Amino acid sequence: MYLSKEFEKYHKRILGNDYGKLVSYFSEPQVRHSIRVNTLKTGLRSVKRLLSESNIGYGAVPWCPHGLWVDSCDLDSLWHQLGYYYVQNASSMIAPQVLGPGKRVLDLCAAPGGKTTHLAQLMGNSGTLIANEDNPSRIKALVYNVQRCGLINAKVTMLDGCRRHGWGQAFDRILVDAPCSSVGTLRQNRDIMGKWSMRWVEGLAGIQKMMLLAAYDSLAPGGRMAYSTCTTTLEENEGNIEFLLDERCGARLLRVELRGLTVRPGLTDKTFNCARVYPMDNQSDPHFIALVEKK
Ligand SMILES: C[S@@+](CC[C@H](N)C(=O)[O-])C[C@H]1O[C@@H](n2cnc3c(N)ncnc32)[C@H](O)[C@@H]1O
Repeated sequence: MYLSKEFEKYHKRILGNDYGKLVSYFSEPQVRHSIRVNTLKTGLRSVKRLLSESNIGYGAVPWCPHGLWVDSCDLDSLWHQLGYYYVQNASSMIAPQVLGPGKRVLDLCAAPGGKTTHLAQLMGNSGTLIANEDNPSRIKALVYNVQRCGLINAKVTMLDGCRRHGWGQAFDRILVDAPCSSVGTLRQNRDIMGKWSMRWVEGLAGIQKMMLLAAYDSLAPGGRMAYSTCTTTLEENEGNIEFLLDERCGARLLRVELRGLTVRPGLTDKTFNCARVYPMDNQSDPHFIALVEKK
């Protein structure tokens, strides 16, 4: 697969020997997919039965009780239309579980709704869940998934997540699943290589910093915020978390851990508690997750 010289040089520097392993993963064709059973509509056992009846092989995603690896998945099936499951990358099942449920939850960058619907599931469809997204064309998919998955605790808003919106310190849980350079999705989306450059990464890191501050300032004292990306760069991950810790003295990092998942610490001393998720450990796409608590 084609990887630019700039990409190669940068990643060899930050990943060392693991760079080759990452490239091998990206070069392999994707043979298995993953789904999350929507327990607001059905149960794990029922979906397993449907899969068996359709001769589709499956296995457990070790870090998500309702996640299944499947040999194939059909977005047109009646069961999908009815919201019995959400087709979701297994690494995307991590952040909502690390964050955990709350009474007032904000999902700042929510479309198309994978993590919003997971959060609602963890909240038992109770409390209040604000699903925000600023891109009108992506809002459609978000609203579709909120409705399809039977959420009754969610409100969809269309606001710029880089700004504060008069919410005060309203939320006890906030997820910032930021727009990023998406290196983790290279296997599914090879077009990324066409636009990948350090200049692009630095521009994204600027947006992510604004989101982190706006989200942190909307957090109630004692509340928690999870920051996640599906990318590998220092600037978009550890660099942003260090920025937040420098800017907000009440912010402290909690250790990210999830049963069944192997994680590696953040790449800098200050971000040791963050988690880097790599395919060579979990056979799933790269991800980064930080968990911040407001004192
Ligand atoms: C990584 S995707 C979110 C995926 C989603 N959390 C899920 O699990 O399905 C990032 C989203 O942030 C949105 N976004 C970009 N800039 C934004 C902004 N300033 N405010 C709010 N959302 C923004 C993008 O349109 C995109 O839908």
